[in-house]
Amino acid sequence: MKFFVDTADIDAIKELHALGMVDGVTTNPSLIAKSGRDILEVTKEICDIVSGPVSAEVVALDAETMLAEGRKLAKIAPNIAVKVPLTWAGLQTCKTLSDEGTMVNVTLCFSANQALLAAKAGATFISPFVGRLDDINIDGMELIGDIRTIYDNYGFDTQILVASIRTANHMKDAALIGADVATAPPAVIKGMASHILTDKGLDGFMADVKKAGIKIL
Ligand code: E4P
Repeated sequence: MKFFVDTADIDAIKELHALGMVDGVTTNPSLIAKSGRDILEVTKEICDIVSGPVSAEVVALDAETMLAEGRKLAKIAPNIAVKVPLTWAGLQTCKTLSDEGTMVNVTLCFSANQALLAAKAGATFISPFVGRLDDINIDGMELIGDIRTIYDNYGFDTQILVASIRTANHMKDAALIGADVATAPPAVIKGMASHILTDKGLDGFMADVKKAGIKIL
């Protein structure tokens, strides 16, 4: 499973990238707003660091303006994936951009039928939001399993990009289901390294190091 990092925080991207943990980056208007930076400038900076797909989201709601925005975003770098919402206008924009050879990430997906439409429209990635479904007591991971089954039934190339990930368990579940990509905030990716028994075990070892005066250097 590929790891995308869901942030526009340059330092966080650099830190994870240095460890080989970043196969791509996703941003959205809220993350760009949080960065306090110009969308074109910060997206370019991310593309200079990461060679994998970098999602940049359109902000228009109508297809014509979305397409113009998408074409402008695509010019930032060859690894841009234009992010469009799962609306009818978003699907129209997806079809045109993908026919032009631009990667498209269709976002704000909350149902298997929406994912099916995105695949038919030539999406490179479909982004189902598991955390926001869990927030309203609908099992987000069940949706990932349904999309996996549908895409495999018909051999769609669209990659399932699990989004709105909130916990390390979401990462494990996405990997077990066979999602192609998971995008997560830096803290969730770093949190995957934590285990209470690792901490407890290390405390025990350190106590014995001190008691026995073990030295290596
Ligand atoms: C990624 O593409 C999404 O924009 C992101 O994962 C949304 O996460 P949130 O539901 O925590 O805002």
